[in-house]
Amino acid sequence: MNILVIGGGGREYGIVKKLAEDPRAEKLYVLPGNGGMEDIAECFPIKATDLEGVCGFCREHPVDFAVVTPDDPLAMGMADRLREMGIPCFGPSKAAARIEASKIFSKQLMEKYGIPTAKAVSLDSLKDALRYISENEPPMVVKADGLALGKGVFICRTREEAQAACLELMENRLFGESGARVLIEEFLEGPEVSVLSFTDGKTIVPMVSSMDHKTIGEGGTGPNTGGMGVIAPNPFYTEDVAKTCMERIFLPTIKAMAAEGCPFTGCLYFGLMITKNGPKVIEYNCRFGDPEAQTVLPLMETPLLDAMLACENGSLAETPVRFSQRAAANVVLVSGGYPGKYNKGLPIAIGGLEDGTELVHAGTKKTENGFVTAGGRVLNIVAVADTLEEATKKAYRNAERVSFEGMYMRRDIGRTALDHIKRG
Ligand code: AMP
Ligand code: GLY
Repeated sequence: MNILVIGGGGREYGIVKKLAEDPRAEKLYVLPGNGGMEDIAECFPIKATDLEGVCGFCREHPVDFAVVTPDDPLAMGMADRLREMGIPCFGPSKAAARIEASKIFSKQLMEKYGIPTAKAVSLDSLKDALRYISENEPPMVVKADGLALGKGVFICRTREEAQAACLELMENRLFGESGARVLIEEFLEGPEVSVLSFTDGKTIVPMVSSMDHKTIGEGGTGPNTGGMGVIAPNPFYTEDVAKTCMERIFLPTIKAMAAEGCPFTGCLYFGLMITKNGPKVIEYNCRFGDPEAQTVLPLMETPLLDAMLACENGSLAETPVRFSQRAAANVVLVSGGYPGKYNKGLPIAIGGLEDGTELVHAGTKKTENGFVTAGGRVLNIVAVADTLEEATKKAYRNAERVSFEGMYMRRDIGRTALDHIKRG
């Protein structure tokens, strides 16, 4: 079977690596891929958002199955286009991708179907937004309606901060049309959990839970990034919480999407907060998370291709999907200056890594003289071990074997989780 993966970050590396291990994968194409994937797949320089370019590639190459991973192409209707060409694919339709691409769509869905989430109002003029802020008590959370590279959320402790956020989004159009409408929502508190799931639109199978570490600074300080590290499983996601999530959130969500005429197929990502009133949805993503995917997938025992094909064929209920009981930790190595300005093209020194450790390429380029940096998030060190403590130690031990000028990593990935486990 010839498989095409669309995307080029660490998440796609994790997916491609897993698919490359499958004896059924004859050819593995990646658009555009990255430097580190060139040894395991054929990469072509076509952007993930270039719909015409991708369709053209599919006319010229024998593609039997496509995996569309990033949010932008999904929101643009890439999966629909490929299916129209007769190519089965893993990834939701444009209509279903609205669950991520429009925060107002997903909020209305949750309200209509009684799915627990933060209370919110949607506002489509700056005047109304400013009036709402003046009449309500902070803290409050301002969110751009549309996609904003994960940066469209502002946690506002004061009215001034909330006003400034609305001004940036709605007037200065910091994220273009994504900020034409905003949501202002209640501020929730509690540990966060990411749950990625496979779904064929009728059945939903959650993967191992995980915890992302979003800020650049230790202890949740500094600006948000695409993700600085992940641990899995997430100890705050107990069996009881998992049961509640399945009954009140996961199943109701896929039923709601089907009832709205846009059944969701592919990977549905639940960003949850475990509040004192129970788990609530912070956000949905219509795709695997990055860096969650490359942390969780090494724990998957069932071939990834089986689960992906079942999502597209509607046979997930008959497909066993198993994960190991072990733990994984991922430490992200970033360029100095990230998430602000940073240099590219710096040579990377990579020593040998221990068994059970994966060097995941995210922003690297292959040159005649070895790998060089080519992005903000450069590499991930993913370690698997019997316990979370061992996995975390192993990831850090191996991170020390990699270096490039200005390299930075957070030193506290997994600390909150391990402290929680120790407290019992
Ligand atoms: P999002 O892009 O929607 O995942 O939001 C980014 C981050 O903002 C989340 O991971 C949370 O840490 C935080 N956040 C979003 N919504 C809320 C909320 N209603 N209350 C508290 N924190 C929030
Ligand atoms: N790690 C969060 C995301 O992929 O959106």
